Amino acid sequence: MTESVATAQQFNSEVPDSEFWTVHQGDARKLGDLLRRAALVAGREGQPFVQTTITSPPYATLVDYGSENQIGFGQSYDDYLESCRSVFLEVNRWTLDAGSMWVVADSLLERRRKGGAPSRLVPLPFELARQAEAVGWTLREVIVWRKDRTRPWSHHGKLRNGFEYVLFFVKSNSFTFEVDRLRETNGLKSWWVKYPERHNPWGMTPDNVWEIPIPVQGSWDNAAFRHACPFPPELVRRMVRLSTNDGDVVFDPFAGTGAVVAEATRQGRRGLGVELNPKYVSLFREGAPTMGALPSESSSVGAMTQRLLELRMLKYPKDLAKQIVRGGFTTTHVRAVTVEVKSVNYKPSRTAYGRIECSVVVADDLSELDRARLSKLMLEVGAKPPLSKYGLEAKCDIVSIAEASSKFVGREIAVYTKGRTWHADFSIDGDRLEDWVRKTGVPTVVPVISPLLVRQSLEESL
Ligand SMILES: C[S@@+](CC[C@H](N)C(=O)[O-])C[C@H]1O[C@@H](n2cnc3c(N)ncnc32)[C@H](O)[C@@H]1O
Repeated sequence: MTESVATAQQFNSEVPDSEFWTVHQGDARKLGDLLRRAALVAGREGQPFVQTTITSPPYATLVDYGSENQIGFGQSYDDYLESCRSVFLEVNRWTLDAGSMWVVADSLLERRRKGGAPSRLVPLPFELARQAEAVGWTLREVIVWRKDRTRPWSHHGKLRNGFEYVLFFVKSNSFTFEVDRLRETNGLKSWWVKYPERHNPWGMTPDNVWEIPIPVQGSWDNAAFRHACPFPPELVRRMVRLSTNDGDVVFDPFAGTGAVVAEATRQGRRGLGVELNPKYVSLFREGAPTMGALPSESSSVGAMTQRLLELRMLKYPKDLAKQIVRGGFTTTHVRAVTVEVKSVNYKPSRTAYGRIECSVVVADDLSELDRARLSKLMLEVGAKPPLSKYGLEAKCDIVSIAEASSKFVGREIAVYTKGRTWHADFSIDGDRLEDWVRKTGVPTVVPVISPLLVRQSLEESL
């Protein structure tokens, strides 16, 4: 336990605007003055301005954070909950409609109960959620933060506690939640090569179990004075990236040594914190451990994303040919399909990943009637799964063998046979396309031809 320190509980109103986005010493039950001033500095006088709040309230009445009149330690459990509720209410008032609040908390064991009743697990995160909902927040998601190390407590009937809860609250339906920013392409199963259309090129939607190690204290910390539970920067980073944009205000009313403010600042947001214990505030100001260069929001497109996009664009014409054959045509009629990439949308997007142009190359003796039938079929199959699921804008037409060849004069083109659109068999000059198609005769599987050259092995990742 650290020594108790007396604290001035009013926020220092002398702080100049230029130094405002930092951790302030003060009491989270008296946020009014600070938040009014913050709204003014943020250019939104008297109006909501906080985009998200990321915080962990004191651990019920169990942990002494070393200041007099702190929330939690020294209070009754009911008073503690009431104090947290008053903080949640004030935060809600100053939060933008699209805003949110993240609360990190853990359950606890109530021992020595009356009449020798068994120790009881208190679901503190959900009791805090009840307080938050009572003052206008809506609980929207619960994330399990899986930790590598925990407090060394053990008790009969308890397993080693390996996680904490992260509660995500929203103020309205228009809340910001940029899930694309947390997608990852690591860990794709080997079948991504054959089935690129089943993978978002930016990776899977992240799940709600986050494995994040606790930081090793010491690198920035004064060894003689440590905080009991600093947030790991990675935990804060995920919440900031999900729920805020550049320049937004990120608030923490129980700031401790300021991990939220530091990481929010590093991400190009405006971080604001309040902490009762002046020693923690000084520690933040001396160290500001995680401040540094701003990483760019628009991280460059990874090799895996690029490859998944290419594979999608090459597989589309193969599936188009397959649907055409299912619709009654044979490879005697359809001799190849060409595909050209017209544009790629390099931003995670819920609309199209890009635009392609496909040409179905038909035999010279295909009748006008059959051409018309094929054209109608192509429209029909393009509007239905599997093709409609590719997320591509595809413009498709029908061309003769000679027309196909003339499109690629002077360009090198890759030829994908036997349906292996992830690995080109060979490439040829566009001028030789007509020769090649005629010489090959009737294929068993319609070949795909494209200026896009991909040679991806099934076994190896990128
Ligand atoms: C669970 S810790 C937060 C740690 C923080 N997330 C970090 O990364 O360092 C809770 C903090 O709330 C602070 N606290 C307790 N009562 C407070 C009050 N009335 N106003 C502001 N902070 C308070 C404690 O001093 C403690 O640092």
